[in-house]
Amino acid sequence: MRDAIGIFDSGIGGLTVLREILDELPDEHTIYLGDTARVPYGTRSPETVVRYSLQAARFLAEKQVKLLVVACHTSSAVGLTALRTAYPEDRLRVMGVIEPSVKEALRITRTRRVGIIGTDATIRSEAYTHALKQLDPGVQVFTKACPLLVPIAEEGWEDSDVAALVADRYLRGFRELGIDTLILGCTHYPMLRDTIARTLGQEIRLVDAGAATAREVRDLLKQEGRLRLAAAGGGARRDVEHLFYVTDAHERFVKVGSRFLGRDLAGVITVEL
Ligand code: DGL
Repeated sequence: MRDAIGIFDSGIGGLTVLREILDELPDEHTIYLGDTARVPYGTRSPETVVRYSLQAARFLAEKQVKLLVVACHTSSAVGLTALRTAYPEDRLRVMGVIEPSVKEALRITRTRRVGIIGTDATIRSEAYTHALKQLDPGVQVFTKACPLLVPIAEEGWEDSDVAALVADRYLRGFRELGIDTLILGCTHYPMLRDTIARTLGQEIRLVDAGAATAREVRDLLKQEGRLRLAAAGGGARRDVEHLFYVTDAHERFVKVGSRFLGRDLAGVITVEL
């Protein structure tokens, strides 16, 4: 299958990004790769995350995807430069989730006080902070690693008392900081959106990186005349294909992943990178 949008993540979480891409671009073929054998990336060193990310990208590049979306925030934070060096823009366009989220956060903030939550590796990298400050040097940024939210979402406990307790423990400090916008800087956090909103109060706007990235993907492909419909001269298309590859634990991916994707997953193939 040529001309698909390639999406990769450390595992299941990136399906929240794919879900938004499918909503925004229902006529596009997609190929998703979840590196389930080596998840989580969020606790690993930058060198390891870069190495894993390059291997994942190579797999999708060999499938001749037309655009590579790095759905994993940890890979986007730590590995995007290496990925863009390995794949120059004229060869393969590589899009991370950080730039679209940051633009969206700066568009909606009024107080210019923005919070970011993510994995340990993402927060340690300060990639979000740098990206925000590059676009608006006056913005005040507050960050917090929230690693426990990842297993809670995978366990299906996103609306439980456990989730509320953990979210409160991580996020209570943000209430006093006067932020009006919080970037959900990890693939799993959109699953906990309601719990996070209840913890912080409805007045704090939450930025869903998947949605922001999906809009950016649409705009980019449209601008470059590379939308599938445009290429085919318009008209509704039915023959859209969605392929799924994982590196391990295929059954768990199907079970948990269907919840993250919001639709049934089928035809998942296990591969080695
Ligand atoms: N996909 C990762 C991220 O968005 C979360 C899971 C992991 O640590 O690999 O940062």
